[in-house]
Amino acid sequence: MGRVANKVALITGGASGLGLASARRLAEEGASVIIADINQEQGVAAASGIAGARFELLDVSREAGWIALVDKVVADYGRLDVLLNSAGIVRLASIEETTEEMWRLVNAVGTDGTFFGCKHALRVMKVAGSGSIINMCSTASIQGAPQVFSYAASKSAIRGMTKSIAVLSAQNGYGVRCNSIHPGNMRTPMLEEVAEIVRENDPAAAQAMENIWVGEPVDVANMVLFLASDESSAVNGAALVVDNTTTITEGVVPK
Ligand SMILES: NC(=O)c1ccc[n+]([C@@H]2O[C@H](COP(=O)([O-])OP(=O)(O)OC[C@H]3O[C@@H](n4cnc5c(N)ncnc54)[C@H](O)[C@@H]3O)[C@@H](O)[C@H]2O)c1
Repeated sequence: MGRVANKVALITGGASGLGLASARRLAEEGASVIIADINQEQGVAAASGIAGARFELLDVSREAGWIALVDKVVADYGRLDVLLNSAGIVRLASIEETTEEMWRLVNAVGTDGTFFGCKHALRVMKVAGSGSIINMCSTASIQGAPQVFSYAASKSAIRGMTKSIAVLSAQNGYGVRCNSIHPGNMRTPMLEEVAEIVRENDPAAAQAMENIWVGEPVDVANMVLFLASDESSAVNGAALVVDNTTTITEGVVPK
């Protein structure tokens, strides 16, 4: 029997990177997976390659879409056991370079999107008396991350939301767990997008980036699997790093 057999899992950002790797891993271990993403073409292709998966178009930054999707999942499957909030975007800019538009965009997807997702998952999970909400944060909400200012702020907001939801649920006996995962650099299209900008603007920094540790999406997917499964039934409100010491080392972590 799979580690998440018969669980129903909704994954935002599931068309790419860490969300896609998590969708695959959860499906391998028996979950029914709903990939929700703003990228329809990629999302449909991703779902078609995963047994028991389906795609739903969702812009996480709009609450109305969330209400409709969560209600549809419950109507179709009878319940929602797992929500992974993995949708996210990054803008390479320090506080000095961050525009109002960048700030609002990064926070609309990361902060607002995660808030709406948690709110509506909690609404239906507490009725069922169980559920696992997993929020994709970053090492950027543990360390300073001067070159991705709005991103670090958004991930820190998500970290705070996560703990607040976990404590509310524990105190009220909702049976819903909420944890955050903090990956270091992982080999995904998002990291490649950042690396490309660095290559264009700062070849020396790009060269240095070639020599640092980068994890694989499945490393994060395995943590998602643990948090989604009943194996983690006492893990609630935790901030779990998947970073091979990146946040605690004095230097860079070599390849
Ligand atoms: N890759 C890394 O190194 C890394 C490190 C730490 C944290 N993270 C976080 O992990 C998560 C996934 O990142 P990734 O590397 O897989 O990125 P990715 O760019 O490969 O995937 C992100 C997905 O989110 C979707 N998305 C963007 N805006 C959306 C919206 N408004 N509504 C719905 N979907 C939307 C995209 O279409 C894409 O499929 C993000 O939250 C990211 O911040 C990534």
